[in-house]
Amino acid sequence: MKRIAVLFSGTGSNFAHIINTLHKQEVEIAVALTNNPEAGGIQLAKEHGIPLEIIDSKAYDSREAFDSAVIERLRPYGADLTVLAGFMRILTPVFTDQIKCINLHPSLLPRHKGLKSIERSYEDEYPTGGVSVHWVTSELDGGEIILQKEVAKEGLSFEEYDEKVRAIEKVALEEAIRKALD
Ligand code: GAR
Repeated sequence: MKRIAVLFSGTGSNFAHIINTLHKQEVEIAVALTNNPEAGGIQLAKEHGIPLEIIDSKAYDSREAFDSAVIERLRPYGADLTVLAGFMRILTPVFTDQIKCINLHPSLLPRHKGLKSIERSYEDEYPTGGVSVHWVTSELDGGEIILQKEVAKEGLSFEEYDEKVRAIEKVALEEAIRKALD
């Protein structure tokens, strides 16, 4: 069974989805790692007995130093693929040149790279928004796209649109992990 590392910073609902759908069935989550000691996903890792690494990004004075620390913590687990599931850090080439990695992003890239992507997608002039999963390079939200899923905006309040994005991103991430490991 292929082994993945999952990195998250917040609630961890996408991490939860990977646990519930793929973990121990199609892939093994060899390690979960967060940069946020308060992240909700920490509890999930503990409940499911998944090895957990916490590296507080506030303790590092450069992005490169943090990235090196993450690589050192991940190395012993020998993951085939690293999955960014709501990992809210800009990664430097120190990381992206060494780690085979995919990222979930809640917009139809190349539209709305960076933060507040769901809000900006909802407000733009296009009839659809959606989500993307892409290979990670040193260009923020810029690597080759693995897959995208669209969400039609017509008639939806922002809350309804947000809910649809948050549901479909989980399906997208699950499918993209399969594709990336193929
Ligand atoms: C998700 O909506 C994900 O698409 C987004 O962060 C959220 C994490 O939610 N990622 C980005 O914006 C990456 N630039 P979660 O902690 O519940 O999985």
